[in-house]
Amino acid sequence: RTVYLNGEYLPETEAKVSIFDRAFLMADGVYEVTSVLGGKLIDFAGHARRLERSLAELDIKKPAAFGDLLEIHRKLVDLNDISEGLIYLQVTRGAPGDRDFAFPDPETTEPTLVLFTQNKPGLSDNPVAKKGIKVISIDDIRWGRRDIKTVQLLYPSMGKMMARKAGADDAWMVEDGFVTEGTSNNAYIVKDGKIITRNLGTDILHGITRAAVLACAREAQMAVEERPFSIDEAREADEAFLTSASAFVMPVVEIDGASVGTGTPGPVAGRLREIYLAESL
Ligand code: PDD
Repeated sequence: RTVYLNGEYLPETEAKVSIFDRAFLMADGVYEVTSVLGGKLIDFAGHARRLERSLAELDIKKPAAFGDLLEIHRKLVDLNDISEGLIYLQVTRGAPGDRDFAFPDPETTEPTLVLFTQNKPGLSDNPVAKKGIKVISIDDIRWGRRDIKTVQLLYPSMGKMMARKAGADDAWMVEDGFVTEGTSNNAYIVKDGKIITRNLGTDILHGITRAAVLACAREAQMAVEERPFSIDEAREADEAFLTSASAFVMPVVEIDGASVGTGTPGPVAGRLREIYLAESL
């Protein structure tokens, strides 16, 4: 696989980053995951805009212009012959000569820019979407700026393991009684035909897929309500689902061991998945 590191296209074994890189020592970096369908980037502009926002919020220098990032994405898709898959991009504050809590001088420390592809044939025709997935609920103990897409992913990673241990696929996080989001996705329920998902704020990531799927829903005259919902409300819902750049629209059929609705993927999630994929392809 060919990867990209700071201006160079290299075999993955030759791409090396300093042990002083701030992302390695302090999780001082941000990332994006963009999906590829039919060799085409899905929602690149949205991901690039969110990246720019994450960088600005953390005062990390922008490593490349929009057009250059687009070109790097396209070139990696090409070089690695990706028809369906993902592109991972990470920007870190860079590698000053030593470990220090204070940010290094941006004049002397350049950000690190890394991109690599993940080939995932069958991403759009995922058989899991026909069965749906099971989630458990866990406390949301992450920091308060979840709108910034940082590489600080230890708790979401632990959440995924808690889910696995409980025989489930993923975890939805709960704060003050209300669902914030999934470990790596935005959370939704459907009640009496209405799609309910948490409103944007600093407590969740502003999903690029979320924005696209809600636009699809509104275009199809489906009712959408952006507000927090509790885990109890989710258990009583007719349907539940999640969205992300890698899962698209994924039905959730079980929460904490109890079936949601009929315990099978619901019609609203199914229709949204279809519309979203049709519009993306
Ligand atoms: N995760 N919420 C969280 C906490 C996420 O990590 C993600 C994305 C989302 C969905 O955002 P989007 O629709 O822009 O992918 C919501 C990516 C896919 C990941 O970490 O792999």
